[in-house]
Amino acid sequence: MFNFVFQNTTKLVFGRGQIAQLSSLIPTDKKVLITFGGGSVKRNGVYDQVKKALAGHNVVEFWGIEPNPAVETLRKAVKLGLEEKVDMLLAVGGGSVLDGTKLIAAAIAQPNLDAWDIVKSGSAIKQIPFASVMTLPATGSEMNNGAVISCHETKEKFSFRGDYPEFSILDPETTYSLPAHQIACSLADIVVHCFEQYMTTTGQSRVLDRWAEGVIATAMEIAPKIQADQHNYDLMCDYMYSATMALNNFIRMGVTQDWSTHQIGHELTALCGVTHGESLAIVYPGTIDVLREQKKGKLLQFGSRVLGINEGTEEERIDKVIEKIEAFFKSLGLATRLSEKKIGVDVVEEITRRFNERNVHLGEAQNVTGDVAREILMKRL
Ligand code: NZQ
Ligand code: ZN
Repeated sequence: MFNFVFQNTTKLVFGRGQIAQLSSLIPTDKKVLITFGGGSVKRNGVYDQVKKALAGHNVVEFWGIEPNPAVETLRKAVKLGLEEKVDMLLAVGGGSVLDGTKLIAAAIAQPNLDAWDIVKSGSAIKQIPFASVMTLPATGSEMNNGAVISCHETKEKFSFRGDYPEFSILDPETTYSLPAHQIACSLADIVVHCFEQYMTTTGQSRVLDRWAEGVIATAMEIAPKIQADQHNYDLMCDYMYSATMALNNFIRMGVTQDWSTHQIGHELTALCGVTHGESLAIVYPGTIDVLREQKKGKLLQFGSRVLGINEGTEEERIDKVIEKIEAFFKSLGLATRLSEKKIGVDVVEEITRRFNERNVHLGEAQNVTGDVAREILMKRL
């Protein structure tokens, strides 16, 4: 392991009925801007629980943060927050609402800066306090310091870093209303978050290897069970907690990472509107195929420990690992090929062009350039 400093400051409030805790988690002297998506929280009762808990509080509401939050929408929330002189934000919804809120928090704290410039700088120097009630387990945004924001005008999607949420409330019962496709996308996201922090080289950390393998094995095990019954509380607890543990910086301490699949996936979303989790299901089998030599040790370790693949030559075992991972994404009902989304070579060329222009060098060996991204995508046509 290399040296690291770890500090995750989010207070996690987990379990049934915990939204009621908002009344004491947020001081009454704060003026709070509550941010929402398109209305799922009104239909599943989360909104009513939030309003009840904050009955004695000074709150303003902002609605309409869309999936893959757009800076164009978020600027409107910043304007409202500044006009209303709010001093805290509460995101109620999925990762998009919370990511958007992280940017609103930064732009309110630095009103002289444009929100998109903050994103492009890669880090929010200052943010007003923010917290969340998370209703979609996927991004880990509830307990991490990252956010991913889209710009419709330029068809770009970039991430930035900043503070952690002050607290996040996770009530697994809120997931009962999730559409099947969102659950599928989120399970792919959870698994690929672990892969991006795990599938590099062996021999770095036994603890983190097994931690990541444990989260991936859990997600794979519960996926068909959730498809059969998404109202099972204990099951949805495992689902929700897996998402948080996959991307709250725990499994990346002191080890190398490879986020190339996410970076390529973000382009597919920005250019073609592919849902985040599905973009990963399409790209990931290509990433591990193209980088199979470099990631050989980890692919074999994962195959043996998690998928029970122990027979055959190394090449045959790696082929089986890639096949089984793709089969898992398919079992979720997700596309795993660009053609299934009607995406062709023109988009591959545009992503290659963008990566070359940005001079990207991704992955644990910094060798995923525009041309390597092209090779990955050409395998996924
Ligand atoms: O907008 P509403 O009406 O609330 O509906 C949402 C939305 O349509 C719906 N939904 C959320 N909770 C629900 C629900 N519907 C019924 N019942 C519930 N309990 O689900 C739809 C999708 O929501 P969204 O927030 O977009 O999904 P997700 O949480 O997967 O977030 C995706 C965004 O997060 C980014 C992605 O790139 C994408 O922009 N990511 C953020 C990361 C981070 N902050 O660390 C890391 C990830 O890798 C990811 O890139
Ligand atoms: Zn992701």
